[in-house]
Formats: sequence, C-alpha cells, structure tokens
Amino acid sequence: MSSPLILVNLKTYREGMGNRAHMIAQAAELIGRESGVTIAIAPSYIDLHPISHHFDIPAYAQHVDGCEPGANTGHITVDAIKNAGAAGSLVNHSERRLTLADIEASVRGLKVHNLISVVCTNNEMASAGAAALGPDYVAIEPPELIGSGVSVSKANPDIIRRSVAAVHVINPKVKVLTGAGIQSGECVKIALDLGTDGVLLASSVVKAKDPKAVLRDLVSKF
Ligand code: G3P
Repeated sequence: MSSPLILVNLKTYREGMGNRAHMIAQAAELIGRESGVTIAIAPSYIDLHPISHHFDIPAYAQHVDGCEPGANTGHITVDAIKNAGAAGSLVNHSERRLTLADIEASVRGLKVHNLISVVCTNNEMASAGAAALGPDYVAIEPPELIGSGVSVSKANPDIIRRSVAAVHVINPKVKVLTGAGIQSGECVKIALDLGTDGVLLASSVVKAKDPKAVLRDLVSKF
C-alpha cells in the first residue's frame, strides 16, 4: 500500500503567501522526513515554481485548465504547471468549481503529462462521477465544513464511508482523500480508518502560529 498523503492547500490566504509559503514548505519537508509520511503543499501559482525547486516535497497547483498551450489568455495549462515543477493539481475544488467537460479535460491533460490528479467533490454521487474519469484521487469535502474548524472526520464520517464505497464500486484503483476542518492526528486517523488514503486540508496549518507543530500532530497517529 502506498504512503498516505497529507495535502495542504495554501489557497489565497495571506498566511500562505511568499515567505510564509516557504516556511510552511520547509516545515512540510522536515516533518515528512521525520515521519516518512508524504506531505505535499498546493501554493499559489506565484509560489509554485520556487517551492517545487527549493524543497523536497511534492507541490501541487490549486487548479489547472485542460486547454492546450497556444492562443488562450488567462489560462493555466498542464504544460505550465509541469514546467514549474508541479507533481500534480487539484481539479474542481469547491472554491473553483468546473463543468464536467472541464474536469474531464483537466484530468486527461494531467494523465498525458504524468501528473497526479486530485478531483474534489461534495458528496458521494459526485465522487462516483469523478471516479469514472479515472483520476489518481477523488477528494470528498462537504462544502459547509470547509474552513469551519469542525472536522469532517468527526461531524460526518458517513459521507467519507459512502464516498469511499461509491468511488471503489466505479474504479477500485482511484484513491480517496477527505477534507474540511481536518486539524489533528485524530482526524487523520479516523479518515484513514474509514478507508481513505489521506487528507486534504488548509486553515489549521496555514493559519497556525506554528504550522510545524500542527503538521507534527497530523502525522502523530500513523
Ligand atoms: O482544500 C482544502 C480545504 O477546502 C479544506 O479547508 O480550511 O477546512 O482545512 P479547511
């Protein structure tokens, strides 16, 4: 079984930009080494290239467009994030929803370039639909719990259980993450015990006074 993934989305938080993004990446590198757990971060596009080149951690884009390089303005292509050193990308995050056709194009583009796709969903039906596209990961995040400080692992374990089952009926090779309010090793342990392959989280690490301490706690129950 592959190592679980802890994927920290820095979103557009002020506390996740520039120097702070580097500080969080450094903490992720250190705790990842100490624990043997894969800790990845998804910084803003501006920080993607420096972070992927300066730190030995997987860096993800927060979104990618499925269009080919060429006459497109204001788009982010898979080629662009690959050149910036990205390991993969989130797709269809709750704060960056896409059409089904857009999701399919992004996942296809990521596959063509051997990058990891993480398709975000809001319930088990959407999770099953996303699994049909054959991404590497489906990440189930109930939108009402995102940024709430209330953990999906504790508030709604059933949605995790149902999503894992729904994804695996469609395609057992697709891995499942869960997110929203994840903040401790206990939340991560519950998520893994429910059959996920890791967690997607943001505010508890990005807004923490000491992100390293939070990361250390997140991996403490493996
Ligand atoms: O992308 C992760 C995210 O949507 C969850 O956010 O702040 O609830 O951990 P948060």
